[in-house]
Amino acid sequence: MKEIFCDEIDSTNTYLKTRYNEYEDMTFVGTNLQTNGHGRNGRSWFSNKGENLMFSLLIKNEEVIKQYRALSVLSAYSVIEVLKEYKVEKLNFKWPNDVYVDGKKICGILLESVSSNSIECLIIGVGINVNQKEFDGEYLNEPVSLSNILDEHIDLDIFRKKIYERFVENINKLQNGYDFIKDIREYDYLKDKEVYVSINNEIKKVKVLGIDTDYTLKILQNDKEMNIDYGEVSFHI
Ligand code: BTN
Repeated sequence: MKEIFCDEIDSTNTYLKTRYNEYEDMTFVGTNLQTNGHGRNGRSWFSNKGENLMFSLLIKNEEVIKQYRALSVLSAYSVIEVLKEYKVEKLNFKWPNDVYVDGKKICGILLESVSSNSIECLIIGVGINVNQKEFDGEYLNEPVSLSNILDEHIDLDIFRKKIYERFVENINKLQNGYDFIKDIREYDYLKDKEVYVSINNEIKKVKVLGIDTDYTLKILQNDKEMNIDYGEVSFHI
């Protein structure tokens, strides 16, 4: 594992996307401020300087890249495990990779790949609201921070260390064949909910049956079961 920290950067994901050749597998890039942080579905990711955790992790190992669906779930699960250490309750995983506390979003994760003929690398970008108290502007999902929940200031360096260590530990477990499905199902936020899902720009009302064994999401649409994959899918509850 290698760690890099930049005080200010456009986006930690973009940084690794353009420089992945220079860095080894399992390199973490963190920052205090992103000037062009982005989220899923073309949205922006805003965060006050030095208050929250923002980082990207470079994955180059082919065997791990192949398990990208598990990796997405494992990332959220790693965040959940660390938040549990801080005694956070009412934690949920919103497939494919958001973490919620009591219905509010505390963490967003963006997986991006770089491909030529095959996938060269995966980049796991993680944003966790840690010490930010107020969130101005409009959010699709109401944000919350760890500090809002615990009503205290969190040592960001200690928090970062715990998160990085948990990611390394869980990726090692994945490489040794560990299946995270049972663990993550405990936190399945969408299970049994009726949601509007936008697949390829078409909005459909479906019932979510839950996370399937291959980490896709099983849904019921017009009494027909189908699975949707990680990709350009967004949910509105
Ligand atoms: C989402 O909820 O839509 C995903 C948000 C991902 C934000 C993180 S912050 C670090 C990394 N760099 C980025 O530009 N995005 C991710």
